[in-house]
Amino acid sequence: MKLLYALLFLIGASGKQIVTIYPLTVCSAEQCGGSISDIWLDVVVVVDNSQRVNKRSFVSSTRDTINNIFREASIPRTRVGFVTYNSQATTNADLNKFKSYGDLQQGVYNSYNDMNLSPEKTPYIGTGLIAAGELLQIQGSADGHVNHPKVIIAYATALNGTGLLDPLSVANTLKSAGITIITIAVDTDDNGVIEKQLAPLASPGAAFGSNYKIGDIQSVMILLNCFCPPGWTQRQELYYNKIQKYTTCFQFFGAPTSWNTAYQGCSNLWPGSSYLAMESDYDKQQYIQGSARNNSAFQQTPLQYHIGLKMSQGKWVWNTPYSQPALSLSWSNWMYKYPVVSSSMTSVMNNVQNDTDYGWQNIDPMKVSAGYVCEAVACSARNYCDAYWNNRHIS
Ligand SMILES: *[C@@H]1O[C@H](CO)[C@@H](O)[C@H](O)[C@H]1NC(C)=O
Ligand SMILES: *[C@@H]1O[C@H](CO)[C@@H](O)[C@H](O)[C@H]1NC(C)=O
Ligand SMILES: *[C@@H]1O[C@H](CO)[C@@H](O)[C@H](O)[C@H]1NC(C)=O
Repeated sequence: MKLLYALLFLIGASGKQIVTIYPLTVCSAEQCGGSISDIWLDVVVVVDNSQRVNKRSFVSSTRDTINNIFREASIPRTRVGFVTYNSQATTNADLNKFKSYGDLQQGVYNSYNDMNLSPEKTPYIGTGLIAAGELLQIQGSADGHVNHPKVIIAYATALNGTGLLDPLSVANTLKSAGITIITIAVDTDDNGVIEKQLAPLASPGAAFGSNYKIGDIQSVMILLNCFCPPGWTQRQELYYNKIQKYTTCFQFFGAPTSWNTAYQGCSNLWPGSSYLAMESDYDKQQYIQGSARNNSAFQQTPLQYHIGLKMSQGKWVWNTPYSQPALSLSWSNWMYKYPVVSSSMTSVMNNVQNDTDYGWQNIDPMKVSAGYVCEAVACSARNYCDAYWNNRHIS
């Protein structure tokens, strides 16, 4: 995310100085985002119902946060299962039970309230995680859902359990099977211990203490819903120590070929979704060029690769996905003396002499050989991908 932090010093009515930090978003079109109402995850919520939660309002506040996380979600587009655990786990709702948010609210209330807690004193979170993992693996791979990202939201008051129920080794097994674990500490001992103990179980950036915000959990879920199919590399960059994910997926082909062959090759990779890469702004151009330079399949010197820029009706335009109208140039990177006026040099490659000297050259689409870079739009809250990777734009 291109965040420029603008510091505004506002003088309040009382004369007290208030400092507000506003993130200003520049060039946001290709950042992962979207709304919680559009996500399409498979989620299992796992909560402790042992005697450890039987004081104060831990049960009702956990229920409230579950409701708040999913209130805006569209169920069963996002499917939600519900598991309680003590010395053993109980699957109260599998992934297909709740057909609406109302169902979820009622179902969670019915199986999780102060009247029906377990008499057990020790919560073995390993049992809850294993039950959730089984639901996600069996129902999650059912027809139509295989590409829906899998998530466990685990609430815990303690990390009891050894051997087969060792919480960390159970969590590691689930994470290596591709499941994301979000942890939420329920600090019934009021000493901060559970928050620290729980963090290693969580996926990166997904451990929450007692002071979390619902919006932060929802952001993790939205980001998780933004991903590329196997074989594609998602653009990700470190920005102020945070990983920024983009809705663009790439594949890099180093073997020299003509622009026309490259164009066709990209279209065939993910039919309806993939196209020759668009170096449509400076940052993206640097990412694509840097990736090609790092890729040992590109052996040509100087490094050259085709991009999806072509001449159409007298104008330079990007080839675009989803049969959208061609996109005219809003930013360009022509080399000195380019583009050359010519009726045959109607397509474009990037020519990288070295770190400082690089840029676009128009070429004959049949005659000049170079590597090429293909691009596609990631699956995301805004772009649903079904089990066969057919996708559908939402907005
Ligand atoms: C379970 O964990 C809690 C909190 O760490 C601890 O006080 C308790 O002794 C543990 N119980 C067992 C049976 O290990
Ligand atoms: C290319 O490799 C360098 C050195 O490992 C790395 O710092 C850089 O981020 C890589 N660039 C891309 C776009 O992957
Ligand atoms: C980069 O390449 C250009 C053209 O080949 C050359 O003139 C220039 O000196 C090179 N710059 C560096 C830093 O190597």
